[in-house]
Amino acid sequence: MTVKTMDLAGRRYAWREAGEGAPLLLFHGFPFTSESFWPQLETPPPGVRVIAPDHRGFGQSAPAPTATMDELAQDGLALLDALGLPQAAVGGVSMGGYVALALLRLAPARVRALALLDTQALADDEAGKTRREDLARQAEQQGMDPVVKAFLPKLFSPQSPPPVVARIEAIMRGVDPKGAAAALRGMAQRQDTRDVLGRFAGPCLVAVGSLDVITPLARAQEMADLCAGSRLEVVEGAAHLAHLEAPARVSAALGALVASSK
Ligand code: MLT
Repeated sequence: MTVKTMDLAGRRYAWREAGEGAPLLLFHGFPFTSESFWPQLETPPPGVRVIAPDHRGFGQSAPAPTATMDELAQDGLALLDALGLPQAAVGGVSMGGYVALALLRLAPARVRALALLDTQALADDEAGKTRREDLARQAEQQGMDPVVKAFLPKLFSPQSPPPVVARIEAIMRGVDPKGAAAALRGMAQRQDTRDVLGRFAGPCLVAVGSLDVITPLARAQEMADLCAGSRLEVVEGAAHLAHLEAPARVSAALGALVASSK
């Protein structure tokens, strides 16, 4: 999984790529890096070129003072420009889904198909925004440990293989706390994107683990109901990271989505 980099307005922007065929721009969740798509990068769906960036301040992408979902989406659009791709299937896991929906709002003509994995179209409520700010401050003062403690227990079902959980924990602990704090504040500022989704006419995969407590099935169902061309895939027994708990199933659904958009 070689990491590629480009200069984006004076900042380093990194991404991983694998596979050949129709492009799928896949945004990672919080607080991970593009490495968190290892099953989809090691065995890309046939006919799919998976392009997975590191958001600014994560992995090998340099930080920036702010990381709103719109800014992360604009970084992804700049990558599509740099790769000469006028359109792509666009998707993401959780925070990555917020970014994919922001990209859809900013540049709908660039999106051939949409993959919304363990995510939602709703904004944070006031209590949620306060929790984000508290955690952002803790990250700045104490590093990633409080963030790992807040998120890791909710990510996986009890049946998840320990090496998968350990790899995700290592990815989380390697994130720059300043990058994590900026993204927490960015998530708190995000807009409700239900209207954007309601206008999307292309194919849309909505996948969710049946045990997801962060972005539960009801949120996935709501997105699937809004989007005329949607297919809802409920991954029984998986939690928030269904693409790691049932990688073959989620990769096959991604492959089918991209094939249906050609
Ligand atoms: C994620 O997995 O990206 C986060 O759990 C999203 C969130 O906290 O809303």
